[in-house]
Amino acid sequence: MSTDLCSPATFSAGHPAALYRALRDQPGLVWHAEPNGPGFWAATRYADVHLIDHDHQRFSSEPTIMIEDPLPGMEAAMGDAKMMLMMDPPQHTGFRKLIRAEFTRPAADAKGGRLNELARQIVNNVIERGECDFVADVAGEMPSYVIAELMGIPLDDGRELYKLTEILHSAPETLPPGAGDAAAMKMFEYAAGVIAEKRARPADDLATRLLQAEVDGRRLTDQEFLLFFLLLVDAGGDTTRNLLSGGLWALHNQPDQFAWLKADVPGRLASAREELLRFVSPVIYMRRTARMDTQIGDTAIAQGQKVVMYFGAANRDPSHFANPERLDLSRTANSHIAFGGGAHVCLGQHLARLEIDAVLNEVLTRMPDIELTAEPEWLASTFISGPKSMNVRFRPGPRL
Ligand code: HEM
Repeated sequence: MSTDLCSPATFSAGHPAALYRALRDQPGLVWHAEPNGPGFWAATRYADVHLIDHDHQRFSSEPTIMIEDPLPGMEAAMGDAKMMLMMDPPQHTGFRKLIRAEFTRPAADAKGGRLNELARQIVNNVIERGECDFVADVAGEMPSYVIAELMGIPLDDGRELYKLTEILHSAPETLPPGAGDAAAMKMFEYAAGVIAEKRARPADDLATRLLQAEVDGRRLTDQEFLLFFLLLVDAGGDTTRNLLSGGLWALHNQPDQFAWLKADVPGRLASAREELLRFVSPVIYMRRTARMDTQIGDTAIAQGQKVVMYFGAANRDPSHFANPERLDLSRTANSHIAFGGGAHVCLGQHLARLEIDAVLNEVLTRMPDIELTAEPEWLASTFISGPKSMNVRFRPGPRL
């Protein structure tokens, strides 16, 4: 068993439940070495993760939420511009306000009908074949459609951007040299094209509204827009995809649970979806940095030290969840932390839930016998958990 939280191998078959257990069982936070950095405190218990996520006075999202500090070249290229995910209040509050209204529960609900149509179309595209790669052909399609529609860009571009995010989330050592930088550059170039297009032809979409919005009495700079764009493509892309494909993998491994859900999809989907979120926890971690010398339980944390919250570990903490290693789709007390918490709690959570429901409902109703034909290949990432590809078969059916 790999016990290195900085190695993608540790996450190469899903969340490392045994390692998480061993870490949670140690007192306090656990110090972890880093190959190219000073090391960090790993928080794996629910109470600690919850506390850190809700305390931005002590634990900052700056300079980054990734374990590695930003490369100096990247920082210089961005000047003063920062991604909202890596800001603290009050600056963060102003930026979040710019797009908050697009992501409220009523705003998400208003998109529900359209999401169901998209799910129908996605399943139509594979149903006659009797087999497909569930990750690329089904789970990945929904967030690509959604981001394209939100931003007012062509669907094929949404797919392309989504492929770029996958590269950006991969561990650098698993990519050909320069591939990560090239993907970031392509993404920036694409966003620059969107700026030009939406300024020339404003439309009823989030990209146009962002370009016209004001923060602190001024418009966003091009770089700020670019980072917003990147955040939305990034945050809403492989998270939702991995929940769907990681969810199907979990259901495949627990046939009794799969059968329970299929027996009454409309009645059981809500609790099942929350349990899949807990169990799959697509975001492995978020980092914070201590703003001051401070203490969590018996652990003394020095100003400037990194503190990393492991959401999948917190979501399996037996002091918070009964029988946490078991996928229990009927679980009712399920205050999981898959969407994080505090000031940065996932802005897209209402939309994500509807996307998940739309796809699962369509798949389980129209392909009830869906099954994996091989063990999935897992993403090589220490940040985002989920299968990279997953071949499935099902009885072919008609397009609707
Ligand atoms: C299953 C799907 C998803 C999961 C598991 C997920 C998870 C997360 C997590 C863990 C965070 C960080 C929270 C924290 O630091 O406490 C986050 C932030 C965020 N998510 Fe999601 N997310 C999902 C889907 C989406 C979607 C569909 C969108 C939008 C289209 C979205 C947009 C965002 C944004 C904008 C942030 C940054 C919020 C901020 O900094 O204030 N997410 N998400």
